[in-house]
Amino acid sequence: MSRVAYVNGTYQPLSEAVIHVEDRGFQFADGVYEVWSVFDGKLADFEGHMTRLVRSLTELRIAIPMTRGSLTQVLRETVRRNRVRDGIVYLQVTRGTARRDHPFPAEGTPPSVIVTSKSVSFAKAQAQAAKGVAVITQPDIRWGRCDIKTVGLLPNVLAKQAARDRGAYEAWMVDEMGLVTEGSSTNAWIVDKNGKLRTRDTQANILKGCTRTTLMALIAEHGLEVDERPFSVDDAKEAKEAFFTAAGAFVMPAISIDGVKIGDGKPGPIATRLRTEYLEKAKRDAV
Ligand code: PDD
Repeated sequence: MSRVAYVNGTYQPLSEAVIHVEDRGFQFADGVYEVWSVFDGKLADFEGHMTRLVRSLTELRIAIPMTRGSLTQVLRETVRRNRVRDGIVYLQVTRGTARRDHPFPAEGTPPSVIVTSKSVSFAKAQAQAAKGVAVITQPDIRWGRCDIKTVGLLPNVLAKQAARDRGAYEAWMVDEMGLVTEGSSTNAWIVDKNGKLRTRDTQANILKGCTRTTLMALIAEHGLEVDERPFSVDDAKEAKEAFFTAAGAFVMPAISIDGVKIGDGKPGPIATRLRTEYLEKAKRDAV
């Protein structure tokens, strides 16, 4: 079955879907995006991603392209037309098309909106999580507004490729103080050597992950605490457990960092339990 993309008001075969060469997303990375996990055709952490989308657009003064209701309808319809049961749906909104010039285009230039959706093998992801994955570290060379989910992802792409080149799944980025900021497309967590759950606070230059937010709520429901405090690469290497969170990755246990085994080199009990519970909640609450 061929895939379908929504582009500026119409659904088109993915192979024929195009945007203008002077789209500002293409020329300046002047746009934002969101990724929702899809479970049984429904969208996970729906409100969190929608709220963050509006925030990203507002921060960049890109017009909200359509009502929340219409956008929801387009997301659902793209999932439906692609017959995705388990997978992801991707939304990108850019500042639109205009003659290439750095300042914002004329008031009223319509934003460009594209939506795509693809199936992802849930069984394969579960098998990967059961084994755990390798992480490497890379210097964080990104700009100062990583709280906005922009399509300007070149440093993230380079970090992820460095991970792949070294046979790892994810790269954790490290600031000039030697502290982990976040993964190239995930938030980073550890269970430190004292057994405390730790993840970087969102005052730092990181993305406030929706998976992170849902997981925090789950952890609080269990009466457990998360220490939102930076940790160093050394803290991570001597941690009992390490894992990372994102749409699509859910809660993914890391079993090594830069080749150093974490704990006993197997997915830890806390990460494993949090993955199961996150998945249960996300599926239950998907809309
Ligand atoms: N990435 N940090 C970064 C830099 C990210 O790109 C992402 C998500 C996250 C986790 O956010 P969330 O839990 O809301 O998915 C953290 C998406 C999945 C991507 O780029 O494909």
